[in-house]
Amino acid sequence: MIQSSMASQGIKGPPYKFLHGNTRAINHMRSEAVGTPMELLSHDMLPRLMPHVYSWMTMVVNESLRLYPPAFNLTREVERETKLGNYILPAKLALSLPVIAIHHNPLLWGEDCHLFKPERFAVADGVAKAFLPFGFGPRTCVGSSFAAAEIKIALSMILQRYKLSLSPSYVHAPFHMLTICPKHGLQILLHPL
Ligand code: HEM
Repeated sequence: MIQSSMASQGIKGPPYKFLHGNTRAINHMRSEAVGTPMELLSHDMLPRLMPHVYSWMTMVVNESLRLYPPAFNLTREVERETKLGNYILPAKLALSLPVIAIHHNPLLWGEDCHLFKPERFAVADGVAKAFLPFGFGPRTCVGSSFAAAEIKIALSMILQRYKLSLSPSYVHAPFHMLTICPKHGLQILLHPL
């Protein structure tokens, strides 16, 4: 659905083979992961995995969440009449905030907005305001730090032990079912290192 609506607007779908065949990106992440050994899960592991330690991995995760935000649409209700730019928003108005469109807006992210380029997160600039995978404001996701740590722990543990490749049986079909998910699953081959 997402791919076809993008195609109807003349937007070429974003590349989905983010890491498959991308030796430079994977080796960079693996060297970070191997640099932080964690044979056994322990209480001192989390501080060692804080985002500033895994900087390249953080950029890869952020770029993936930008291209495919699981919560691709946020909703709000206007509490009282509000002026927003040139618009007067009446009370009770239901607002739909299209996160995926914001994440793919060339005016905010540049003409290469559909490309997988983790390095765009290397610079902290105004773009951060247009990055909303966990929402924003008072109702922002309470689990965002936990989720980010969980992703990096799982990814690090996998990279320390396996080489990954995308299975030839994988069919790219992002699908909206409350969140964005792969319609036919995500088949990945793990090769022990
Ligand atoms: C990649 C994983 C996750 C994503 C992309 C995500 C995304 C989001 C988004 C977009 C919202 C709505 C924010 C808004 O309306 O501004 C939200 C709310 C929320 N999330 Fe997450 N979330 C994730 C993981 C988690 C986890 C692991 C937990 C719990 C441990 C969690 C707990 C919550 C709760 C309780 C809210 C409601 C907050 C409120 O309304 O005050 N989330 N999340």
